Amino acid sequence: MKITKEEAQEMLSDERFPRSGKYDPQWVLANQMGPNALWLTESLCGRMTLEPGMRVLDMGCGMAMSSIFLAKEYGVRVWANDLWISAADNHKRIVEAGLEDLVTPVRAEAHSLLYEHDYFDAAISVDSFHYYGTSDTYLSYFTSFLKPDAQVGIASPGLIKDFEGDLPTYLTEEDDRGDSFWEPKEHWSFHTANWWRNHWEHTGVVSIEHAAAMKDGWSIWLKFDEVAVAAAEPMPLLGPPDQNTGNALRADRGEYLGIIEINARVRE
Ligand SMILES: C[S@@+](CC[C@H](N)C(=O)[O-])C[C@H]1O[C@@H](n2cnc3c(N)ncnc32)[C@H](O)[C@@H]1O
Repeated sequence: MKITKEEAQEMLSDERFPRSGKYDPQWVLANQMGPNALWLTESLCGRMTLEPGMRVLDMGCGMAMSSIFLAKEYGVRVWANDLWISAADNHKRIVEAGLEDLVTPVRAEAHSLLYEHDYFDAAISVDSFHYYGTSDTYLSYFTSFLKPDAQVGIASPGLIKDFEGDLPTYLTEEDDRGDSFWEPKEHWSFHTANWWRNHWEHTGVVSIEHAAAMKDGWSIWLKFDEVAVAAAEPMPLLGPPDQNTGNALRADRGEYLGIIEINARVRE
């Protein structure tokens, strides 16, 4: 890490996320794959009721930081499901955290799940659902693994409002390596809170309890990105963070970019 642990701790401390502040900053930065997974999980869980022993599916958990957080903070049993990160890799982190009795790592594609139906009491997805969950039928498939009345929480980067006309140039301008913030293959799955609300409501399988952009989400995302860039800790699969995310967020200042959060319950 290019900054000291104390500097990272100071930069990451945020009174909005007291539980996340207890975690080793080096661990958080070494396992980051986007906006701080702990902050997003803590925010989602603030609107959920999680009791020890509940079965929770953590879909697209990446390096399983959110799964470890759920087990440590709430005593729930977690299935840490990811595609790009292997179960063996996540198992190492789970054992290091002393949580092998509570967290089970699983490598599975989001459309090929082998869980029992009506199995989970809750499911969360952090910075992940937009990669696989935007089709009209996915929510019904996903919730088939959850019990009636189970809680669902997703937090993902998304849009504050839809674009009118062309994308702002600050999203598409290329750096000296030819990379830009906006990658068409990924970012057209960014949507507004209202888009998610309508998309989920018309399926009839959940009741929406909350669908909104996180307050100051862009600045929370930027704050974490700035620590990640200063620490220059390589991101899993991607290498050191570049300046594109920070530049886009600083230019946008929350006009289009933000963090979208949805909490819902599976209908009986
Ligand atoms: C940007 S990373 C975020 C990881 C983690 N939740 C975090 O916030 O650090 C997106 C994650 O979504 C997962 N993912 C993407 N497509 C998936 C799919 N089709 N099935 C299951 N997981 C998927 C990837 O494996 C990846 O770890």
